[in-house]
Amino acid sequence: MTTSGRQRTLAALSGDPADGYPLWIMRQAGRFLPEYRELRTRVSFLELVRSPELCTEVAMQPLRRFDLDATIVFSDILVIPDALGVGLAFQKGDGPRIERPLVDDAAVEALEWDGVCDRLGYVYEAVRSLRAAAPNHALFGFAGSPWTLFCYLVQGEGGHDFAAARAALWAHPERSRRVLGLLADAVAEHLVRQHRAGADVVQIFDSWGGLLPVEDYAAFAAPGLRRISERLRAEDIPSVLFIRAGAHLAQLSTTLGYSGLSVDSTVDLAALRTAGVPTQGNLDNTRLLGDPAGIREGVRRIHASLGGRRDHVFNLGHGVLPSTSPDAVAVLVDEVRRLG
Ligand code: CP3
Repeated sequence: MTTSGRQRTLAALSGDPADGYPLWIMRQAGRFLPEYRELRTRVSFLELVRSPELCTEVAMQPLRRFDLDATIVFSDILVIPDALGVGLAFQKGDGPRIERPLVDDAAVEALEWDGVCDRLGYVYEAVRSLRAAAPNHALFGFAGSPWTLFCYLVQGEGGHDFAAARAALWAHPERSRRVLGLLADAVAEHLVRQHRAGADVVQIFDSWGGLLPVEDYAAFAAPGLRRISERLRAEDIPSVLFIRAGAHLAQLSTTLGYSGLSVDSTVDLAALRTAGVPTQGNLDNTRLLGDPAGIREGVRRIHASLGGRRDHVFNLGHGVLPSTSPDAVAVLVDEVRRLG
């Protein structure tokens, strides 16, 4: 019997690699696919996220085109802030906006922590539906990290430096720690419920972790991440932690209790691998905007830095860019399959 993508992915993340590398692509369901863009002309992003049926359709789109081993529930990290009642909107071209950001004590007191995951039933329905549609693919559930959610909650509108969120750590340390702790509990519960609905693995996106110096990451971001991984281990749920732009956090990240570490292209993969933790990612997503030779060379470079071990999940260092050609993704898949 041949190994399914599901088995291959779980084996790599358990440190007990099977035949051949597993492969999937962050943001594989989304704007680089014409069929996704076509669907989006008819429904808004939030309507899409709240429809389990449409979530399944868009998650299946990349699986029909490419030989991938894993699928990820179509959702967003901002569904937790939305369920906390802060008012989430996506404006065309501008990204997400939170209408009532955490600018003072009153805004923090207004957060609706009670039953937050009960208001996210549409996510668990989407997981259940995708589980049935893709039984042989590893199914990833996900959530944002407490720190990354804090960035959006405090800043209101995405920036590139989230200065207001970073400043809040110093101006209001107690309030910030309390919110980060409550977010950790909500994230853990959200991930456990996705697992119960059928997710094999859960991934945390710490998209803005790289903004913090290592000491501040240890003080403010790491405690919540440890609390989450303890809960996941207690429930036997495989987990992946992704910290974007986190080269300076790579060593610290190996101590946080996750089954695997997903890293962007700033991380020295060979150095990180000496920690003995399974890895994922590392391929620069802009390589897919160049010629096939560069894509193939990038894949082979990662293969070489693994020193003959296979406990690695091939993936990009960050989401596939909307301007990427599907043909470039096909080259990536072909090169990974060539390695066996
Ligand atoms: O296949 C998949 O990975 C799709 C599922 C998914 C989405 N968002 C759908 C989405 C996942 C895993 C996410 C995670 C997410 N969301 C992150 C962490 C990952 C990362 O890229 O760092 C973050 C920071 C968000 C918050 C968010 N959602 C932003 C900043 C934006 C606007 C910018 C952008 O990339 O468009 C979104 C919208 C969003 N989430 C889209 C998709 C497909 C685009 C919506 C559209 O116009 O159709």
